[in-house]
Amino acid sequence: MSETVTPEQATATEKPTVIILYGGTGDLAKRLVLPAFWELYTRDLLPKRWKLVGNGRGDVSHEDFAAHIYDCLVEFASTPDPELWKGFAANVLFAGGGFRDSNPGSLLDVIAHAEAELGEDRTIIHYLAIPPSAFEPTTRAIKAHGLAPGSKAVYEKPFGTSLKSFHELDDLVHSVFDEGQVYRIDHFLGKEATQNLHLVRFSNRLFNDTWSKEHLAQVQIDVPETLDIADRAGFYDETGAALDMLVTHMFQVAAEVAMEPPQSMAAADLQSARESVIAAFRPLDPDEVVLGQYRSYRETDGIPDDSDTDTFVAARLWIDTDRWQGVPFLLRTGKMMKKSAQRVSLIFKPSDGPVHSIGSNTNALIFDLKGNGAIEIQMTVKKPGPEPLPAESCSTLHLENVATGSMTAYTSLIYDVFAGDRSLFTSSAGLAAAFEAFAPMLGEHRPKVELYDDGTWGPAAATALTDDVGWLLGG
Ligand code: BG6
Repeated sequence: MSETVTPEQATATEKPTVIILYGGTGDLAKRLVLPAFWELYTRDLLPKRWKLVGNGRGDVSHEDFAAHIYDCLVEFASTPDPELWKGFAANVLFAGGGFRDSNPGSLLDVIAHAEAELGEDRTIIHYLAIPPSAFEPTTRAIKAHGLAPGSKAVYEKPFGTSLKSFHELDDLVHSVFDEGQVYRIDHFLGKEATQNLHLVRFSNRLFNDTWSKEHLAQVQIDVPETLDIADRAGFYDETGAALDMLVTHMFQVAAEVAMEPPQSMAAADLQSARESVIAAFRPLDPDEVVLGQYRSYRETDGIPDDSDTDTFVAARLWIDTDRWQGVPFLLRTGKMMKKSAQRVSLIFKPSDGPVHSIGSNTNALIFDLKGNGAIEIQMTVKKPGPEPLPAESCSTLHLENVATGSMTAYTSLIYDVFAGDRSLFTSSAGLAAAFEAFAPMLGEHRPKVELYDDGTWGPAAATALTDDVGWLLGG
């Protein structure tokens, strides 16, 4: 959320709203989107009058969809309070039969049903929680059935799979919506600790003055996951780690670290500062990228025996602005790795003396993006005792201890959609620049995919990318 909320944004949540959740019974909706709507409801942050319409190919009754949501909440959030739940369930509808330009299924009828209660002066939010291959036909159908004017559209990632497909999709989307109506979600930007990257930096001289090549040796953005790809085989095999995580979440987080100070914290300034630095990302050099696949990947149901999909990627990214000349941004993520973590580490250069920092991990500022988020300072202090000896130490600030009220990334970003705040969403220009920097990864120069053992840190070659430093988490 940006700090400046305009009167227009403040009243946006007052307008009766129909939320159409395409992919309403899918995996993403189940784990993240539906729990986020519920959290907004329990905090009284949904518009005063609203209807949530699930859309999908199957024929599901309104009551069964509500029961499905209830089960999702029990599994992925917590068991709803019975009274609150009644109020929520009364606003839930389902429109089956899919949604295409040639055949809208029952969606138009269900919208009319919602309008009977909300009035025709309602606004629509289209939430496309569907695989990237379905963005195009769904967008066309929204246009064909006249549902675009005055609405907002939320697109999940990846928004395109190459520079070419990005431009095709972007052109189509712009033939249906104005850019101001479009919210391309990248939930890493909604995480509390990610938002602290700019807030902590710009509001504390201690950090702001050292946020550059003069003081930093490297930046590591490390997102290893112990998870496999379980029930997402279809999506994952088409996508792979580099598209699923690198050109999306990790580039956006790198931009959060690397941006120049925005003119103000207003939505447009913050978005533009973050996205203009992406234009300075040097196209990846395939010799500085390591791709991997965990050994048991091809044994997963639905994955072809000869799949060449990457489940691991590590890359050295260079950012060609004066501030970052010579400072590598090291990005790593993968499935079935040794540990799960989401850490952004700013590693300082060694001090000039007369006392030197000890241990490879000291002298670092770390933003832990997981869960409610934390900020760690690793430093060298005096070892308590009679001798003036240095010791490694680490101090952690858990953000939930600062104040109550933190929200999940999805909850925070969906709230921003209602409020019309686009500061934490990606823009068309920013994504075009991201795909330009990523382009060398897609051609004939794409690095060879190396196998790695399940439960490890990935291919050994990834360690060499860090020079002598090593990955702070391991490997
Ligand atoms: C998603 C990716 O966008 O982010 C997943 O598709 C990844 O592959 C997930 O596991 C990580 O998100 P979270 O919720 O753990 O921050």
